[in-house]
Amino acid sequence: TTIYLKDYLPPAFLIEKTHLTFQLDPEKTTVTSVLQCVANPKAAPSQSLTLHGQDLKLVRLQLNNKALTAADYCVEEESLTIHAVPDAFTLTCVTEISPATNSSLEGLYKSRTMYCTQCEAEGFRKITYYLDRPDVLSEFTTTVIGDKQQFPVLLSNGNLVASEQLENGFHSATWHDPFKKPAYLFALVAGDLQVVEDNFITCSGRNVVLKIFVEPKDLDKCEHAMASLKNAMKWDEEVYGREYDLDIFMIVAVDDFNMGAMENKGLNIFNTSCVLANPKTTTDAGFARVEGVVAHEYFHNWSGNRVTCRDWFQLSLKEGFTVFRDEEFSSDMGSRTVKRVEDVNVMRTLQFAEDGGPMAHPVQPASFMEISNFYTLTIYEKGAEVVRMYHTLLGPELFRQGSDLYFERHDGEAATIEDFTAAMAEVSGRDFSQFKYWYSQAGTPVVKAEGDYCAQAKTFSLTFEQYCPDTPEAKGSDKKPYHIPVNVSLLGKAGLLPLTLDSQAQPQTEVVLELTEAQQTFVFNDVQEEPVPSLFRGFSAPVKSAYPYKKADLLRITTQDSDGFARFDAMQQLAVVAIFDVMAALRKQEEWQLEPLLLNAVKELLTNEALDPAMVALMCTLPSQAYMSGLATPIEVELIHQARNAVKAAIAEQCFDLWLAVYNRCLSTKAYAFNANDVALRSLKKVALEYLMVKPTEEVLALCVKQFNNADNMTDESAAMSALVDCTAPLAAKERVDALAQFYERWKDEALVVNLWLSVQAADSTPGALKRVEALLKHPAYDSANPNKIRSVVSVFCNQNAVNFHAIDGSGYVFLADQILVLNKQNPQIASRLLGPLTKWQKYDVNRQGLMREQLLRIQSEPALSKDVYEVVAKSL
Ligand code: ARG
Ligand code: ZN
Repeated sequence: TTIYLKDYLPPAFLIEKTHLTFQLDPEKTTVTSVLQCVANPKAAPSQSLTLHGQDLKLVRLQLNNKALTAADYCVEEESLTIHAVPDAFTLTCVTEISPATNSSLEGLYKSRTMYCTQCEAEGFRKITYYLDRPDVLSEFTTTVIGDKQQFPVLLSNGNLVASEQLENGFHSATWHDPFKKPAYLFALVAGDLQVVEDNFITCSGRNVVLKIFVEPKDLDKCEHAMASLKNAMKWDEEVYGREYDLDIFMIVAVDDFNMGAMENKGLNIFNTSCVLANPKTTTDAGFARVEGVVAHEYFHNWSGNRVTCRDWFQLSLKEGFTVFRDEEFSSDMGSRTVKRVEDVNVMRTLQFAEDGGPMAHPVQPASFMEISNFYTLTIYEKGAEVVRMYHTLLGPELFRQGSDLYFERHDGEAATIEDFTAAMAEVSGRDFSQFKYWYSQAGTPVVKAEGDYCAQAKTFSLTFEQYCPDTPEAKGSDKKPYHIPVNVSLLGKAGLLPLTLDSQAQPQTEVVLELTEAQQTFVFNDVQEEPVPSLFRGFSAPVKSAYPYKKADLLRITTQDSDGFARFDAMQQLAVVAIFDVMAALRKQEEWQLEPLLLNAVKELLTNEALDPAMVALMCTLPSQAYMSGLATPIEVELIHQARNAVKAAIAEQCFDLWLAVYNRCLSTKAYAFNANDVALRSLKKVALEYLMVKPTEEVLALCVKQFNNADNMTDESAAMSALVDCTAPLAAKERVDALAQFYERWKDEALVVNLWLSVQAADSTPGALKRVEALLKHPAYDSANPNKIRSVVSVFCNQNAVNFHAIDGSGYVFLADQILVLNKQNPQIASRLLGPLTKWQKYDVNRQGLMREQLLRIQSEPALSKDVYEVVAKSL
């Protein structure tokens, strides 16, 4: 069944107070809920109350003081209806659940030795019968009872108000959360956990106790998350005026978790991969991820918890806004340009692919079958880009005023995307009625621009044309033009030119053009020389843009532009052209030569020591296979792979000495620290090593092995391992095998490092990958119930090993379908996520299309398909 936004109705009842008691037991946890219910004055009156519930055993039901009997209620697969209820009453409900056998990792479940919960979006209904919808906000009190020895730590949301020693070695803890919240923000944790403690003094002088709970083995991996949390708390006060509201803030790390982390009020639960960090075991990318996710979940305390969502169609209200907030936080903590390039790469490779596939949906979807399928790059990342566009259009001061108004006006409420827009419109006096199409129309707009310089009149006119392709919900021709901010500069021979638009007095070097028509021209005056326009600087809108640049124009942008993203982007365009040229030559089996402008640009980057090493690293990294795959249909899997490797080899060979010099320049004897400068050096060192190891000399091979053995941090160690694994030169054959074996020996007791080891192998693009992947699934390091392991092997193979996954015999597709069919029963959310690569079948050649569809059909014919998998398969066929 499909649920529609237009069908939204307020709940017939509200639950003012919720008191839960958990008697923990692996296979028979008893949950007693006492709900104080009242009829909703804002809804049509109703005689009966229908609660959500799933996989529950109902033990007892009582209304006020009266025990209910079978005639009083009706239990169905996913609901409980009580036939006649008064306007105000107390409902007591006892259910039994089995956390130990709950492999969906939704509701209450066991992760190794501990109990934990994941309730967003609709997992609370697997705990007890409830109005499991985000517009029902309740004051929660939770009592947890468990064996004291096994579960010395018992946690829930809010403040600890009582704890008791009970008979038979049991104990209990009672938590009270003074802030009303929807059930999806409920959390419970019980385990034998160690804690790292710190504190934060808020801007108004209140002391907040900060606790990070982990298994004893992970105590040495909490420092970075704690520092990140304190930075995030301070940043949210300074940048958004948001102060924390409880006296305690807790984070718990769990091994088995479907997503990254969850913002439960006062008790965030994290996938270990998003909270644990130690230089020895965690790469720079890992450190950055922890910093970003810790901040993200913390920021949800306002954008998500204090102001929550009315219904799940509003998901991007909290996720898009919070991603924008965490992106800006990370930019302020580290390198803004690097962060922007990374985020845009995610948009352009992954979100654009989603937007161009059968699961494409608007940032505010109009309908869904299973909401878990809508925790997507579109809701999160594109949603963040939409918020960023408000920021661009309003400027920082007005945007802040809009944010303040939104929080003030809706504090304690369940709000809508419309409410957010209204606040932004009100403070700015602007009309966002056209801008709202960013929320309601799916698909990536295409913007084509052309420039025309008139030497006589000294004018430069830019003409834009926009259109949006067809998507499942609408034909492109039926879509309205978008309101698109285009950040523009004009580059002269010696740098940025001063800009004057018709209406403008003060010349600037960057302007924000507002494109609102299907076709529109902007004219700049007093332009003294023919400029090269720099468009969509900073990626000012999530669109595919095209401008007929000459290669020399691109080169000018890579060296002259003041915007780091624009420099990167121009360099990437040069590389794309170079790879396409090689593809064309390979197709015709012709000789080819590396594009000299690209080669020169690389040489310039490698010799200019004044440049930011991080920028050099980014600009010298060729566009990924996935990025190239998004640029033309059908995707020529092998040809892209070959051409990309050929270009890489050519750069490697023709710049070998430069790369060696760069590598040596990046060597450092300083102890590891996670800061923008050091990260930059390590990233360039990694890129240098990758190029050097394409065709290593004895000397280079020795350097790589030395780095592998002597590194004092995982960034350098794993970079060396990857370089060895990716090296196909016979010279390194032994070192390659040894590195993998040694790495595993060193790190087999560190789950997160083992994940790295698994994923490096799953991504190994040399022939025979499927056999190796199948062997990994049988390796003792693998755990078929743990999402991180599944992602490290299965997802990495299917998404980052294109030539093997898309093997022309279809074996990769059969493998993936087999995995999905097993996971469909065990963990539908993960199963559904794995479908991604198969759903993109239309982008491939006819032969592969057939093979991919065949597997989708095989999955579809499975009789007991979960809602999650069913929806994605049905929509993609
Ligand atoms: N709200 C969480 C976050 O973005 C994501 C949790 C969603 N979980 C899920 N199983 N759908 O931080
Ligand atoms: Zn979130």
